[in-house]
This record gives sequence, structure tokens and C-alpha cells, in this order.
Amino acid sequence: VPGLYLLLLLLLPPLLHASEATQPEPCELDDDDVRCFCNFTDPQPDWSSALQCMAAVEVEIRGGGRDLEQFLKYASKDPKEYADMVKALRMRRLTVGAARVPGQLLVSLLRALGYSRLRELTLEDLEVTGILPPLLLEDSGPALSTLCLRNVSWATGGAWLEDLLQRLKPGLKELHIAQALSPGFSCAQLRAFPTLTNLDLSDNPGLGERGLIEALCPNKFPALRDLALRNTGIETPGGVCAALWVAGVQLHSLDLSHNALRSTAQGTPGCVWPRTLNDLNLSFAGLEQVPKGLPPQLNVLDLSCNRLNRAPGQDELPKVSNLRLEGNPFLDPGVLKRLEDPPISAAVSACAGSALTCVWPRTLNDLNLSFAGLEQVPKGLPPQLN
Ligand SMILES: *[C@@H]1O[C@H](CO)[C@@H](O)[C@H](O)[C@H]1NC(C)=O
Ligand SMILES: *[C@@H]1O[C@H](CO)[C@@H](O)[C@H](O)[C@H]1NC(C)=O
Ligand SMILES: *[C@@H]1O[C@H](CO)[C@@H](O)[C@H](O)[C@H]1NC(C)=O
Ligand SMILES: *[C@@H]1O[C@H](CO)[C@@H](O)[C@H](O)[C@H]1NC(C)=O
Repeated sequence: VPGLYLLLLLLLPPLLHASEATQPEPCELDDDDVRCFCNFTDPQPDWSSALQCMAAVEVEIRGGGRDLEQFLKYASKDPKEYADMVKALRMRRLTVGAARVPGQLLVSLLRALGYSRLRELTLEDLEVTGILPPLLLEDSGPALSTLCLRNVSWATGGAWLEDLLQRLKPGLKELHIAQALSPGFSCAQLRAFPTLTNLDLSDNPGLGERGLIEALCPNKFPALRDLALRNTGIETPGGVCAALWVAGVQLHSLDLSHNALRSTAQGTPGCVWPRTLNDLNLSFAGLEQVPKGLPPQLNVLDLSCNRLNRAPGQDELPKVSNLRLEGNPFLDPGVLKRLEDPPISAAVSACAGSALTCVWPRTLNDLNLSFAGLEQVPKGLPPQLN
């Protein structure tokens, strides 16, 4: 818990000891004093190395998977004692990752950060153990604009998000939750998000339409503009339309890429998309045809890297100013066959560059990439081949 480490290090001179020259410093501050990165993987890490991060604007600390229980004894210190010092920190962005953190320590960190000017907090690969101590009246964590949680597990169970949000000052604009163990969160227990404009629930493959309906309660997201649902087990755009309609969300952009969408499914009958919706991303969705029930008018429709075998007809498509179709077999009939000949087609490399793979035809058995001038094995190959 870096912020806290930094504070503790200042408060607790006994912890400070000359760094041993034998091992490389766990922390590195860049030349511009902007970014500081610490990776405490050593069994006996030199914690004092984190002191140099005091000057940084962006701080990232990885705990090497260790348990931070040893710091718990300092968690009861009253943050008011070091408030002035926290106020002096330049830190705006903080990432804490790869550790087991007692809930009590996390809460102390948030309290201390309440005096900071931190705007973005990311918690990544963390296991939060034990319960979070009860909310105190003076609890008022940082005034974050962005909160990102990736692969964070909570011993407290289902109510973790509400508990966490209550410890922040109001004004959150962006919330990202990925790799949540349970389907994410149930918004029924949550208060409204009056200022939230950007919700990213990508990389929660267990979410699905049902989880989405649970996450988006009616009238709790009055300011929401951008919703990202990449790789969330969504099956039909129509199902998302229904969830948005129920929630009364006036979206501007919706990202459904990297879901295995069923193109044959009918749109939910009578579902009305938000009239504000401008951008719809349906790339990497394994679509063989344009799904039915799309919004009637869009600014951007991204259908790239699908399996469209023919050019979509005007009657299949919404009225759209910017249509993206690259990486579909109809534009490049050899998109699969061409792999046999060098050079690899631009369309395929465009699709293959993505972090998540294009959905290849499940029937594809043989792939010949010989004489292709490759310097390494391309990403995004089919998972199984003969
Ligand atoms: C931290 O160090 C460990 C061990 O050296 C390494 O495996 C890991 O990739 C590093 N983490 C980052 C984010 O650089
Ligand atoms: C998720 O975080 C845990 C630590 O809490 C870690 O052991 C695990 O490897 C992480 N999973 C992924 C997919 O990164
Ligand atoms: C659509 O999503 C894909 C994959 O997530 C991304 O590469 C692409 O840039 C997005 N398209 C637009 C128009 O933002
Ligand atoms: C792959 O293509 C190369 C060049 O066209 C050819 O010589 C080779 O026999 C092919 N490999 C297979 C397994 O068909």
C-alpha cells in the first residue's frame, strides 16, 4: 500500500535503513520526476526505496504477492497527524497491485489519501482480507475522478463496492471493474452515481445480459455516457438494449466488442435504443451477418474483424456516417486462404494485433504460415488446429 508506505516510512525512522548496494533498487523514478514504479519482489525488500516516489505524479507499487499484515500495527495512527505531509504530495495517480491487504490497512490508506490530491486510483491483483472497519463520520477518502479495480477479491463478500464507494468523496466520473469474482455488483444496494459518465465492466466473462440488468438499476446512472462491455459474455445487442431501456440510461457510446454475438437472434421486440447513442462497437464478435435490432441511426458502427461473408445491404444497416468493416472475409475473400501466401494480408494483421483474439471459424483445421517473413509467432491464432 504505497501511499501508506511512504507515510509510514517518514513516520517510522526505525524502518529506514541504508539500502543494500547488492540488490537493485525496487523503486525507480523517471528522469522527469513524473512516474515512479516499485516492484517489491525481494523477500526482504528495501522499503525505503519508496521514498523517492514522494516527488512523483504517477506512482505504481507492486507488492510481489506478499501479505501486508506486518503493516497493520501502524494502521491505527490518526491521519490528521500527517495530513500536512500528505497534502504536499504531487501524486495524482496511484496503482497498488499484487498483494494481500488487510481491509483495515486499505481503509487507513483511503483515510490518509483523503488529504491528498489523488484523482485516479487503481487496485489490481489484490486480495483484501478481513472486514473493512465500520465507516466513521470523519471518513472521507480521496476525491477520485477515476477508480479502477482489476482482479480484486474481497473477504467482505457482496457489499464491497458500496462499502468502498462510501469512503470516497463524491464526484466519481469513471469506474472500471474487471475480473470481478462474482458477476460484478448488484446496483440495488448502491446509491446513485450522479456524476459517473464512464462505466467499464469489460473482462467479466460471467456478466452476461442478466448480470448487466443487475448492475444497471433504473435511474441510478443519470450522467452515464460511455459503457464498455468487452468480453462480458453478452450474446445479443438486443439484450443490452433491453437492459439500457429498463435502466433509462442515455448512452453515447457502447462497446460490445469481443463478445460472441449471435447474429441470427432477433432484437428484443419493441426495444428502443437511447436516442443519444452515437457509437456502437461490434468488432471481434464472430458475426456472420449484421445483427437485427440495431439502433436506426449511428455516427460510428464498428463491424471490423467479424465473419461477414458478403457486403451488408443498406436495408440491414442503420444509417451510419462511419462504418468500419475491415477484417471481414467478404472484403478480403482470402482472409483465411490468403494466409497460405505471403505477405499476410493487412486485414488479418489488423485483427491479430488485438489483445483478445478474433473469433476464428471453429471448423478451421489447417493454417499455413510458412514463407511469411514472420519474426515471431503472431498473436491471435486459433486456439486449436490440426
Ligand atoms: C515484478 O518483478 C517480478 C520478479 O522480478 C516480475 O516477475 C514481475 O513481472 C514484475 N512486475 C512488473 C509489473 O514489472
Ligand atoms: C489475481 O490476483 C491474485 C492475487 O490476489 C493472483 O494470485 C492471480 O494470479 C491474479 N489473477 C490474474 C489472472 O492475474
Ligand atoms: C472497437 O473495439 C475494438 C476492440 O476492442 C477496438 O480495437 C476498436 O478500436 C474499437 N473501434 C472504435 C471505432 O473505437
Ligand atoms: C505450406 O506452404 C508452403 C509454401 O506454399 C508449402 O511448401 C508447404 O508444403 C505447406 N505446408 C503444408 C503442411 O501444406
